[in-house]
Amino acid sequence: MDTYHVVLYIHLLALFVGIGAGAVLLVCLFQLRGAQTLANAVPWGRVAGKTARAFPVAILGLFGTGAYMTSDVWTWSTRWIDVSIAGLVLLALQGPLVAERTAKKLEKALHENGPGPLGTHARRMTRHPGLWVAEFSNLGVVFGIVWDMTQKPGIGAAIAAIVGGYAVGAVVALPFTKAPAEDLVATTERAA
Ligand code: HEM
Repeated sequence: MDTYHVVLYIHLLALFVGIGAGAVLLVCLFQLRGAQTLANAVPWGRVAGKTARAFPVAILGLFGTGAYMTSDVWTWSTRWIDVSIAGLVLLALQGPLVAERTAKKLEKALHENGPGPLGTHARRMTRHPGLWVAEFSNLGVVFGIVWDMTQKPGIGAAIAAIVGGYAVGAVVALPFTKAPAEDLVATTERAA
């Protein structure tokens, strides 16, 4: 046992905190999207808000332990490390600036809706791309960084893994930003 490998172990624990929180958040998003009433939606919004508090712990944990290992054995000009730091910055920005801001707007829409069935505006906010694209593309970026950390590729492949992860995540998110078929039928019937 040496310090480097203990730090690598903590690096992985920080990753599990982030992935665990991301998974819980995904369940919350699906529950919010499916909620028909305020009472159905509110508990999931509350869990999502609490879960998001784990992300700074994961990000600081990954950076702190990664920085130790980089200084100990690698160098700060190692390409796959530099690209991964950029990826981590992207995660750290997209979470609060896109996802959390949209979550605040959803919270406002739920307040304005009040008790009872959710209206069109509140339901549309549960499908906002700011929630879904941010969630899935952040997961995609994390999987891209895991590729870079394990394969240690050159700069081109390292960037491709992260950009590719983001793109795949964004595409996977798109169907969830659309209204479910039964909502479209109800809207069409109302309009007729
Ligand atoms: C979301 C961000 C990150 C994820 C998902 C991640 C993931 C991982 C994983 C899975 C490993 C194990 C690789 C292996 O043992 O083969 C690892 C190792 C490592 N990571 Fe990260 N990491 C992240 C951020 C960082 C950052 C920001 C740095 C540098 C400041 C960093 C530096 C390192 C180093 C130096 C290793 C050890 C590589 C080795 O000894 O083989 N990581 N990381």
